[in-house]
Amino acid sequence: MNLTLKIWRQKDSNDTGKMVSYNVTDISDHMSFLEMLDVLNEQLVNSGDAPVAFDHDCREGICGMCSLQINGEAHGPDRGVTTCQLHMRMFKDGDTITIEPFRAKAFPVIKDLVVDRSAFDRIQQAGGYISVNTSGNTQDANSIPIPKADADEAMDAATCIGCGACVATCKNASAMLFVGAKVSQYALLPQGRVEAKERVMNMVNQMDKEGFGNCTNTGACEVECPKGISLTTIARMNREYLSASVTKD
Ligand code: SF4
Ligand code: FES
Repeated sequence: MNLTLKIWRQKDSNDTGKMVSYNVTDISDHMSFLEMLDVLNEQLVNSGDAPVAFDHDCREGICGMCSLQINGEAHGPDRGVTTCQLHMRMFKDGDTITIEPFRAKAFPVIKDLVVDRSAFDRIQQAGGYISVNTSGNTQDANSIPIPKADADEAMDAATCIGCGACVATCKNASAMLFVGAKVSQYALLPQGRVEAKERVMNMVNQMDKEGFGNCTNTGACEVECPKGISLTTIARMNREYLSASVTKD
């Protein structure tokens, strides 16, 4: 395939940035999207230009590092996959592909297609954990029976990889699908109930402090989420928050 790429280039967070067009040739439809960008970067380096900066790590849909708004969609045109799992067979010869960073006030651009998603880390630090005795007297995991349905639902919520596609997709740049997933992961398990009240209050407060918008029930986040996180996690977070607000000391 021969393709035209329109890519957002921005030297640093102070630069205004602009779209720049590039041509890539002989792209195999078996390549991943990131491998196609590797081809472009090799071309740029060989001609003495600066390669396009983009985030990636595992390249197998696990780490949540890859991002990219491709033709206006977070993680591109496929469903249930991250950018690193997107294949070039989703495109055809002669296509023009627009590639931009995830856009949100709380995700400032660092360089080209790389954005700062440390706001998610700070939300996690505010309550996305449980306190466990690690003194050597750790309780056996099987000593607390958990209904299979609850364990499955908690596991589904725990598959959130913190990529931020939900934020980039939402017209309000809301992080509620992410925070809903993190709150649900613990709210459904007895180990998570101990600090449940503080957790939801602290995580939601941190989310607001970071400048994410509110949820207006559009549901675009659920459609673009590569891990299929359900809107029901947002409903659970709202219930947890309301209950914590009315019962707080
Ligand atoms: S909820 Fe989905 S889209 Fe949002 S951060 Fe988690 S995995 Fe990514
Ligand atoms: S690079 Fe790890 S999820 Fe895409």
